[in-house]
Amino acid sequence: MIKQTKQKAPTKNQKVIQWVEEISRLTQPDQIVWCDGTDQEYKNICDLLVRNGTFIRLNPKKRPNSFLARSNPKDVARVESRTFICCQKEKDAGPTNNWAEPKAMKKKLTGLLKGCMKGRTLYVIPFSMGPLGSKIARIGIEITDSPYVVANMRIMTRMGKAVWKVLGNGDFVKCLHSVGAPLQSGESDVAWPCNPENTYITHFPETREIISFGSGYGGNALLGKKCLALRIASTMAREEGWLAEHMLIVGLENKKLKLKTYVTAAFPSACGKTNMAMLIPPKALKDWKVSTIGDDIAWIKPGKDGRLYAINPEAGFFGVAPGTSEKTNYNALAACRANTIFTNVALTDDGDVWWEGMTENVPAHLIDWQGHDWTPKSETPAAHPNSRFTAPASQCPIIDKEWENPAGVPVEAFVFGGRLATNTPLVYQAFNWTHGVYLASTMGSEKTAAAEGTTGEIRRDPMAMLPFCGYNMGDYWAHWLQLGAHVTHKPLIFRVNWFRKDEKGHFMWPGFGENLRVLEWIVKRVNGQAKSAESPLGWMPSYSDLNWNGLKMTESQFQKLMSVDAHTALKDVESQSLFFEPFRKDKTLPPEFEAELVLLEQRLKRSL
Ligand code: OXD
Ligand code: MN
Repeated sequence: MIKQTKQKAPTKNQKVIQWVEEISRLTQPDQIVWCDGTDQEYKNICDLLVRNGTFIRLNPKKRPNSFLARSNPKDVARVESRTFICCQKEKDAGPTNNWAEPKAMKKKLTGLLKGCMKGRTLYVIPFSMGPLGSKIARIGIEITDSPYVVANMRIMTRMGKAVWKVLGNGDFVKCLHSVGAPLQSGESDVAWPCNPENTYITHFPETREIISFGSGYGGNALLGKKCLALRIASTMAREEGWLAEHMLIVGLENKKLKLKTYVTAAFPSACGKTNMAMLIPPKALKDWKVSTIGDDIAWIKPGKDGRLYAINPEAGFFGVAPGTSEKTNYNALAACRANTIFTNVALTDDGDVWWEGMTENVPAHLIDWQGHDWTPKSETPAAHPNSRFTAPASQCPIIDKEWENPAGVPVEAFVFGGRLATNTPLVYQAFNWTHGVYLASTMGSEKTAAAEGTTGEIRRDPMAMLPFCGYNMGDYWAHWLQLGAHVTHKPLIFRVNWFRKDEKGHFMWPGFGENLRVLEWIVKRVNGQAKSAESPLGWMPSYSDLNWNGLKMTESQFQKLMSVDAHTALKDVESQSLFFEPFRKDKTLPPEFEAELVLLEQRLKRSL
């Protein structure tokens, strides 16, 4: 850790040096620290956070080298309403993003940034998204005035001095972050400084810059994740012919069948993404071994052999804590056994952490995420619903041995899923690439306000990228289609839905580890080892195509789970077409999608 403003920078890259000088002139910090990523530095930062009251050190016997942070209750999640894409033309941000004109936004931000680090330290964090030196990886530099961000970035990215060598005189993504809470001289700090009234999460894709002001939380502040690895990277990917996706990556291996297949999958929030990334096979399917490459983001590039190769650009998990238990996700729990930062979970009387759904027995007393006494009689949850653990990916017991392979792993299937209670089958396969891109672009989840078990309004979330695509979603679909046209060994594309309910509102599919039965069918389809039948929606398995060993489900139950009412599906075609309307208007809707709408409608009508 190098302190002092005048200390020589640990890089000769003039673009870095000038940028740090420019930002420190503007923000006026007390000192500048160039982060080196060492263990000693991490220890010092954590000690500082404990002294500041931001971190509570957890009981080292229960949770070694781990900490609890409690955020300001006004700063607990990503703020999509304050997230902006600032490109020259509004049309390039598209109908689904907030747009701001770059010059005007820069002016506003410059006003906010003036003197905003007074009384604070400016940290310079060099980091690599993806294994250091991988051709697929990218370098970012985050300037932040939050030591909490430094500690989290150390877990979430490959951070530290080794980055300077790889960067040389090259380019990097400028990530500027401030909590927006300067300290007057003598003013003491609060545990979680932030500025919720003036929060801005801004992206300048044309100049590859991110400026985030006012929030210290998660994706608003750890700028390598959603801001760089999705919003900025998606624009890079479009220019350079690859994909930056909101997808987990898993390996599915069956030694008996001599198969090892990598699959990536996109799900909107609250659809069991972490569970699939770290899936535990049920006893009856113990020939299968599941391994994790990533739980949230995949960067996918065409290889010379005509296949697509994926890396996980992150080095850690920023997982949602509530609902994670030994039963639901043993591997996620094991990953945060030590060396973990917990944010907004509850504190137990013996210095450990707890959240809703962690154990069957609810502790008799806790300190809740806001620092208040809590008992099972309390009316508010002990942990915030969006409370998180930041844990090193390497601690996941089933981390894949290829997870740091700079060349990535070959992707054989793309899986897209939402949360739909009605009329959406457990699984179906796209007829071809174009149809698959169409299926991914129309995916979504029923709005949570919808009555249980009834048809609710669908919130479409194309490729689970709605809040994360850094450019016009219509152009993004066209990019997918364009890419497919040049990939000779295309992954197969599937839609899944683990959440169908019967008339009584009960889930019709057990989910969790049992989802492996569906993945087994997918892997066998990829390897030409499973049958399927044509339906109006796509290729579907019959009852006998799935492995039922160890699970009681009758053929008629399965048929109900897979059934599609054509009249209802035709209504959904109308709703899909309506969703496309803004893209039709701005002329970015791929013509292939109009054709897919017609084909789907005709197939459904003929099936009546
Ligand atoms: C996340 C999200 O935090 O998708 O990963 O919101
Ligand atoms: Mn995510």
